[in-house]
Amino acid sequence: MKNIVILTGSGISAESGISTFRGGDGLWDGHRIEDVATPEAFERDPDLVQSFYNTRRAQLATVKPNPAHAALVALENAWQGEFLLVTQNVDDLHERAGSKKLIHMHGELKKARCLETGQVYDWQGALTQDTVCACCQREGMLRPHIVWFGEMPLAMEHIYHALRKADIFLSIGTSGLVYPAAGFVQEVRRNNRNCRTVEINLEPTAGRSYFAESVYGKAGEVLPGFVQQLLND
Ligand code: APR
Repeated sequence: MKNIVILTGSGISAESGISTFRGGDGLWDGHRIEDVATPEAFERDPDLVQSFYNTRRAQLATVKPNPAHAALVALENAWQGEFLLVTQNVDDLHERAGSKKLIHMHGELKKARCLETGQVYDWQGALTQDTVCACCQREGMLRPHIVWFGEMPLAMEHIYHALRKADIFLSIGTSGLVYPAAGFVQEVRRNNRNCRTVEINLEPTAGRSYFAESVYGKAGEVLPGFVQQLLND
């Protein structure tokens, strides 16, 4: 029985209609990263940051999972060994498709967190500086549960544990420019030189030389076939 770890990035949600980060249309809607995705930005202009993420959260109601998300659910359901899906995405398309063993290492749009206690809440609607936090009973204490630049990604111990035991590592729809996720492929190879490493992307990425295999194409088009093959192997 083989253990598999899968890393996904914004490319897997592209065919659902969510913009990638570094694509031509850009997720940032004219905002510089420093203006919306750093703790300093939130301190400086919380209304701007809240409204930026409110827009993204609201957008989730207009999109749905695509065949790439579904293929990973089929893989999880049929997989005999250990399985872990790690996503850098803050959308909810993996869980809506049915993924269960899933870690959102960069947080989730549909969650809010108390600045005072760290308590995390499920959050569907808009978050404003007038929202009263349920645990500290104060306004302006809830922030998006998103890992901003300069902050530590979530569940790293769990992820590295799985990477060290991986026999197969797939990296899907991520440019491989943002660490620590970009370094996962090197981590698996360090621990298991025989680990099968596959990059699945529209095009070769900056980290392509670390992968022994690659499949290029749209995730929604190539992943279902790739998964079927993996399950047949
Ligand atoms: N199928 C497969 N890959 C695709 C598709 C598609 N349909 N569309 C785009 N891609 C690929 C692009 O070629 C690119 O390599 O997806 C990748 C998207 O890269 P980025 O925009 O850099 O997104 P990502 O790698 O997820 O970014 C990582 O950076 O800004 C931070 O925290 C943010 O989680 C994000 C992290």
